[in-house]
Amino acid sequence: MQLLPSARALTAAAVAVATLVTGGSVAGAAPAPARPAAAAAPDIPIANVKAHLAQLQSIATANGGNRAHGRAGYQASLDYVKAKLEAAGFTTRLQQFTASGRTGYNLIADWPGGDANTVVMAGSHLDSVTSGPGINDNGSGSSAVLETALAVARSGYQPAKHLRFAWWGAEELGLVGSRAYVNSLGSAERAKISGYLNFDMIGSPNPGYFVYDDDPTIEKTFKDYFAGLGIATEIETEGDGRSDHAPFKNAGVPVGGLFSGADYRKTSAQAAKWGGTVGQPFDRCYHSSCDTTANIDDTALDRNSDAIAYAVWELSR
Ligand code: TRP
Ligand code: CA
Ligand code: ZN
Repeated sequence: MQLLPSARALTAAAVAVATLVTGGSVAGAAPAPARPAAAAAPDIPIANVKAHLAQLQSIATANGGNRAHGRAGYQASLDYVKAKLEAAGFTTRLQQFTASGRTGYNLIADWPGGDANTVVMAGSHLDSVTSGPGINDNGSGSSAVLETALAVARSGYQPAKHLRFAWWGAEELGLVGSRAYVNSLGSAERAKISGYLNFDMIGSPNPGYFVYDDDPTIEKTFKDYFAGLGIATEIETEGDGRSDHAPFKNAGVPVGGLFSGADYRKTSAQAAKWGGTVGQPFDRCYHSSCDTTANIDDTALDRNSDAIAYAVWELSR
């Protein structure tokens, strides 16, 4: 039974050699592109994402145990992310708003270059609830988007489209920051956003792999990434419109995103494909004081972080 696989391997090798030999010298091949072909998306180092989470945990611990809207822990979270982005060469701005009698902020970071009329955005809410440090919800998305932005800078990626990253305030008060941002855009500015990618809870301790089924192109990009890893995904159904993509979607912007589950419970069919614990919530610490750095599944956080980079690269080429 060795013969057939060997023969196949030889044939495959011969085809590969033939392709190598002829590649690039075929008559009528496409002329060299004006811009060099963009490199593949990088593997996002999970250690870097976890280092951001550790900083957000320290911030919460030093500020009454939370990073909630209008509190010192939110301001410190904002300062942390903003400093990292500025050191990497992003142009940042704060957008101020008021919610529940307290001042809130969105942080917007633009990567210089690309077609200003075609903007790809990725964002996450940076606020926690008052009852805990909000490490899965949503330090996870905030840290992965931050590390993706830093990877853009490290690699010197110059996409055809313009890249913009956002960290939203007061999501937990009802999508206040993201709605303020969308409402602040004129219709012309809004129309330039070719896609908004949202990441809210992507390291749940008993994880599922959920993809938003809004814009088909964005959805396919994420599905392709997970298919390449051999990981099954499901459509996100745990409350459509419950995160910061909703104001964009309502304004007609194509949206997509990833989610690893909140307080719904994992079914036996889901445990069969993803592992984990049947009958337990995806995140048993959702909106609780135990949403700490211990409340993260590293594998889910790593895969989702890499998927974010893949989508940001693929959708902005
Ligand atoms: N947005 C919710 C929060 O921050 C979490 C959540 C519940 C969610 N259902 C969702 C996020 C579906 C994205 C998609 O508390
Ligand atoms: Ca990785
Ligand atoms: Zn959240």
